[in-house]
Amino acid sequence: METEAADQRAEPADDVTLDDVVSLCKRRGFIFQSSEIYGGLGSTYDYGHYGVLLKNNVKDEWWRAMIGERDDIVALDSAILQHPRTWEASGHLEGFTDPLIDCRACKMRFRADNLEDSSCGRKPSKRPGDTDACDLTDARQFNLMFETHMGAVRDDASAVYLRPETAQGIFVNFKNVLQFARRKPPFGIAQVGKSFRNEITPQNFIFRTREFEQMEMEFFVAPDEAERWFDYWLGERRRWYDELGIRPDHLRLRPHPTDELSHYSTATSDIEYLFPIGWSELEGIANRGDFDLRQHSEFSGEKLEYFDQQSGERYVPHVIEPAAGADRATLAFLVDAYDAEEVEGRQRTVLRLHPRLAPVKVAVLPLVSKEGMPERARALYEQLRRRLRAEYDEGGSIGKRYRRQDEIGTPWGVTVDGQTADDDTVTLRDRDSLEQVRVPIDGLADELVARLEAPWRSPKLEAG
Ligand code: GAP
Repeated sequence: METEAADQRAEPADDVTLDDVVSLCKRRGFIFQSSEIYGGLGSTYDYGHYGVLLKNNVKDEWWRAMIGERDDIVALDSAILQHPRTWEASGHLEGFTDPLIDCRACKMRFRADNLEDSSCGRKPSKRPGDTDACDLTDARQFNLMFETHMGAVRDDASAVYLRPETAQGIFVNFKNVLQFARRKPPFGIAQVGKSFRNEITPQNFIFRTREFEQMEMEFFVAPDEAERWFDYWLGERRRWYDELGIRPDHLRLRPHPTDELSHYSTATSDIEYLFPIGWSELEGIANRGDFDLRQHSEFSGEKLEYFDQQSGERYVPHVIEPAAGADRATLAFLVDAYDAEEVEGRQRTVLRLHPRLAPVKVAVLPLVSKEGMPERARALYEQLRRRLRAEYDEGGSIGKRYRRQDEIGTPWGVTVDGQTADDDTVTLRDRDSLEQVRVPIDGLADELVARLEAPWRSPKLEAG
């Protein structure tokens, strides 16, 4: 399980700041503060149109890697509310805690293991405990699970929890999948969904929030094959980020030292990204051994094991878990893609996203709003949108419309002009090279779909 102390390791990233990304996200309606009209709610965020499309693309790419391009993993969507015994068995009720300290004077709450980097509520702000007025309590353990109540009576017996990870929903369904999906190790169960953690000091935009989406896969293997599969999944998950264009020098693997391992893990490595706040966890890959299946067996009384009819062997499978965050991955892709440059004396902000991640793949623009161009452009847009996500825009100068599309990362712009009526050709503009070529409308959709599937490298690598 990730802890906050892991955030902000060492050197800051290149010149893209979190503020750059936050302000673009707000300006273009990707992501904004939740409940803004009421002054916002601590560390919860809402995704607008382009944000939804971008995060959906991230999740789709994850599903594609997990079940689209292989046949040893099945999908699951388990309930957010689970039987409370789940969290006893998993160890969350007892151990999913952070040590915290309250200040009776300024009423702020701090992580006891992070006082050095905290600021107290006074102005000018000091470190908690640094002024005579500070009145700190002793450290006490604070459970990060959100508790609610099920049914009409609100007492201890009705307490249930919003899941703090999607993984446990997978373990409690192990037997179902074994029976109904007729699987045998090695096989995986994949799930994407919301998780909730009452983080004490959430921060850094969507990097650490109280409500977030996880993309987790539990891969069940024979015990003597666990190490090999652990290495395999480290490689696969790193390759996923590479293929989606994250710059290789902004990614690294960090094995956890023994004293950092979670209670369930015999080995964990993080894939870290060089965020503007420094190297930080993007995804954790853990060898969870047989901890979870054994715990749930003990607490539920159900046998969670595999019987190999060929060898006559019975065993509790070991689990390799790649656990990623959809919001955090979205942030990494945004940071990695963000670029600002001067073109012909004017500033241009551009998201150099992998085309498969881009919220909109192609924008169709009439050069001017007359001479039949809007009608022709609209017809082309309606034709293209059957094959790939397209947007039609006729408002404002062509330069402004290109800039708007650059800011949301649209890789291709198609302009319908006077010549289109004569020869059925359009100009095709490339977001990154700014190259414009004349192409026939006939075959354009095929060409764009082929480009979408082509290997891609971040143009920031060429520039840097
Ligand atoms: N089942 C293992 C597990 O949940 P984790 O390292 O705590 O492991 C996995 O979480 C991933 O979920 C993290 O690498 C991160 O991407 C994401 N994540 C965890 N807590 C988060 C939070 N508060 N806000 C946003 N993403 C978070």
